[in-house]
Amino acid sequence: MSRHKIVAISSSISESSKTAKFLNHVAGHFDPRRFDMTVVNLRDIPPESYFRYPVDNPELIGIFDEVEQADGVVFATPIYKASFSGLLKSFLDLLPQFAFAGKVILPLATGGSLAHVLALDYSLRPVVQSMGARHVVQSYFLPEKELLVDGGHVKLAAEAERGIAEAIHHFKTSISVSTNDRLLGHPRPERAAAIAS
Ligand SMILES: Cc1cc2nc3c(=O)[nH]c(=O)nc-3n(C[C@H](O)[C@H](O)[C@H](O)COP(=O)(O)O)c2cc1C
Repeated sequence: MSRHKIVAISSSISESSKTAKFLNHVAGHFDPRRFDMTVVNLRDIPPESYFRYPVDNPELIGIFDEVEQADGVVFATPIYKASFSGLLKSFLDLLPQFAFAGKVILPLATGGSLAHVLALDYSLRPVVQSMGARHVVQSYFLPEKELLVDGGHVKLAAEAERGIAEAIHHFKTSISVSTNDRLLGHPRPERAAAIAS
């Protein structure tokens, strides 16, 4: 059985990011026998690379390649000013219009206020949908106080663990639904040519 390729992208600017810890915890829910998981942290790329077009940073180009090959993409962002992070916006701005054609997306966030639990759905969801995603599954907002760090060990409050398990289940199930048409979503001419040849 071939493994499904997943790219998990963390997009906080914080050195001790709760979002990055949450995403690493989520990545641990993917069995390596079934999923080929790559976790990237956008903060690790030199900041000036996000403000140059055409993109010339090899690490950033490498992440674009990973996204192109992926069956599913997990985005994890802190909520800043009631929206996803500016770093994630800078990254998305550099991707081709239909970069997520045929892919399944899982949007995740950490935030301080439950009043902003819907921020992912009005800010990130429409953007990734317009970039061709086949399916954007139910998003999950983790209140920061439900991320529990004990020494080096990260765990979630019980209710959060149940909630994220449900979101991950939907994501895995959507990826596993076979589709013969990897261009589902919007067409991308360069991929169509590659598939035809
Ligand atoms: C500048 C700033 C703005 C924030 N704005 C919001 C907000 O609008 N809504 C919210 O729920 N939390 C807000 N927060 C709280 C963060 O989303 C929360 O602390 C998050 O877990 C930080 O993740 P990180 O450690 O990965 O950066 C804000 C935090 C900062 C530093």
